[in-house]
Amino acid sequence: MLGAIVITVPVPLGDRRYDVSIGSFSAAQEAEVLAQALGRVSGVAVLVDGLLAQISPRVAALVSALSARMPAVRCFDLPAGEAAKTLSAIEATCQWLAQNGYDRGAAILGVGGGAASDHAGFAAAVYLRGIPFAVCSTTLLGMVDASVGGKTGVDLPAGKNLVGAFHQPRAVIADLGFLETLPVREQAAGLAEVVKAALIADAPLLATLEAHVGPWTPQALEPVIAAAVRIKADVVTEDEREGGRRAILNFGHTVGHAVETESNLGLRHGEAVSLGMVAALALGAARGVTPPALVGRAARLLARLNLPVDVAARLTPAVFARIEVDKKRRSDKVRFVFCPGPGQAVLQDVGLDEIRAQLPPALAAQV
Ligand SMILES: NC(=O)c1ccc[n+]([C@@H]2O[C@H](COP(=O)([O-])OP(=O)(O)OC[C@H]3O[C@@H](n4cnc5c(N)ncnc54)[C@H](O)[C@@H]3O)[C@@H](O)[C@H]2O)c1
Ligand SMILES: [Zn+2]
Repeated sequence: MLGAIVITVPVPLGDRRYDVSIGSFSAAQEAEVLAQALGRVSGVAVLVDGLLAQISPRVAALVSALSARMPAVRCFDLPAGEAAKTLSAIEATCQWLAQNGYDRGAAILGVGGGAASDHAGFAAAVYLRGIPFAVCSTTLLGMVDASVGGKTGVDLPAGKNLVGAFHQPRAVIADLGFLETLPVREQAAGLAEVVKAALIADAPLLATLEAHVGPWTPQALEPVIAAAVRIKADVVTEDEREGGRRAILNFGHTVGHAVETESNLGLRHGEAVSLGMVAALALGAARGVTPPALVGRAARLLARLNLPVDVAARLTPAVFARIEVDKKRRSDKVRFVFCPGPGQAVLQDVGLDEIRAQLPPALAAQV
């Protein structure tokens, strides 16, 4: 059975171009898209998020449909979620790839959320100095953000995403059927990155999110995912290796990363980004960059999407200390992304003293 409408968003990176296919796929249809994108391969190593492998029957269906089309299709379960993003997990994967005889002609398929796609992409970037990979993204955050753009990597005890590589996938599939098992909290976390994309680059998308009533069904999510992917594809195409414009994707992430780390895994990434966006909007308003009305407007939308907005309560000295060591810091300035209006972004360096002094009163005044 074929799914309904499939939306294809190209990522036009020259000889590294690929498509992001969004829709409700049958396993056969999905396997066909992957087989076409990967071409002739000597084998396919399917690296699956360990929890997903247990709870979703779609994984086994996909693997069997792939086996009907491609050689040496074997599955390896990754530790679930962020636990896959360690160098020791990468070592385990590479060891398994070698033991199973995967050679330079083989390809990797990552199946799972952003953690699984970051792991799969990085394993593909380093195994035998690089083999092709594709992603079947199964969380909303993975679909709208992590699976697109070619940033791959793992964490260190010293911090998240500190080891990695740029390696573009050959194909990305956002199969809406996987979203059926996704917990609502994970869905909300994914929507935070959609709000981010709307605020920095797509005013009509912001209006669409605000106008939506009722639950976010896969059908309601499909055009929203496509819009967010188009934005990411646009920005990445213009600046593949984050020399310039790609930095706007960090909107909400300066304060967001700091509160995320300080929460000791209490906050999902998207929840932290929600808090970080409120902080960036309020600071932007205090600097005269952001229209004050936009702060309240965005905070109302985020709250309605079940995302936290009370960032003032989280601005502890430890959070400021984290902002200070933010890896995007330059000398005594922190590079902030501000939103001068719906669908717009500017980068400005802000002194640490200004952040410490202005952020709490700015929040008290605006939210
Ligand atoms: N490479 C990039 O450009 C980029 C961008 C954004 C985020 N990321 C990374 O993505 C990661 C976060 O991704 P995430 O939010 O998808 O988290 P995740 O991959 O950790 O998945 C969240 C949880 O959902 C489970 N899960 C996955 N699919 C499911 C499904 N269909 N049904 C039920 N449960 C499911 C997982 O087992 C996990 O427990 C972070 O490590 C972040 O650094 C990378
Ligand atoms: Zn993010």
